[in-house]
Amino acid sequence: MTAVHHKTLVLLDHPDLSTSRINRALATALGDAPDLTVHDLRRLYPDGHIDLAAERAAVEAAENIVLQYPTHWYAPPAFLKTWLDEVLVRGWAYGTGAPGALAGKTLRIATSTGGAGEAYSPDGFHGWDYNDILIPLQATARRLGMHWLSPFILHGVRDLTDEQLQYLAQDYRNLLSLRAVPEPVQAMPARTNTDRTTTMKSMSTTAYGGPKVIQEVHLPTPEPAGRAGNNH
Ligand SMILES: Cc1cc2nc3c(=O)[nH]c(=O)nc-3n(C[C@H](O)[C@H](O)[C@H](O)COP(=O)(O)O)c2cc1C
Repeated sequence: MTAVHHKTLVLLDHPDLSTSRINRALATALGDAPDLTVHDLRRLYPDGHIDLAAERAAVEAAENIVLQYPTHWYAPPAFLKTWLDEVLVRGWAYGTGAPGALAGKTLRIATSTGGAGEAYSPDGFHGWDYNDILIPLQATARRLGMHWLSPFILHGVRDLTDEQLQYLAQDYRNLLSLRAVPEPVQAMPARTNTDRTTTMKSMSTTAYGGPKVIQEVHLPTPEPAGRAGNNH
């Protein structure tokens, strides 16, 4: 691979971005951020046919991969799953005996939920911690030899004011602009409850006293983790 044209690739999937409030604001905030490319998948591939070579080239050119989507039935929308299924094939992403094409890159999830942050807990309305809902994607990162970065999750998005949303969208841009320096990957152990101690979870209210935001700060040092106690 020769020139690296961008360092962070955001794969954005929303069934209809024209009706989106949250993900559209997040994507808009990314704007022309340096070293950052956004692939709005449904705009790029309205007929559903993904240019696999182009997507793989974009992945190879990036150091950091971000999957951005609204949470739909506790999962990414279907086209992002199609992207994963079709782009991440054996012989390129894994299965050659050598590190796959994504090994050593970072993976971050950026998502929004209608459900409130406190509803995502074993005792809460949704019955699961949101991190548990992300396990299939975390397992995928592990399988590919990628570094899992703490997710950027906006919960309870219906309660966000426009002002809060703008603020959080800037947070998102700042977070993605930080150069992530992953910890060395050892054997990529499966996550256990003990592993959670490596992730600092801070919950607080926004400067606006607005809805609860959960920002999991697992950004590798030495960069600052952005605004601690990020709020959604
Ligand atoms: C089909 C569908 C399924 C949804 N499933 C969930 C869900 O499982 N959990 C949740 O908290 N919110 C769920 N929501 C709410 C969305 O996450 C929320 O509307 C979205 O994050 C808002 O982002 P947007 O303005 O970019 O569309 C769902 C919404 C739709 C339309």
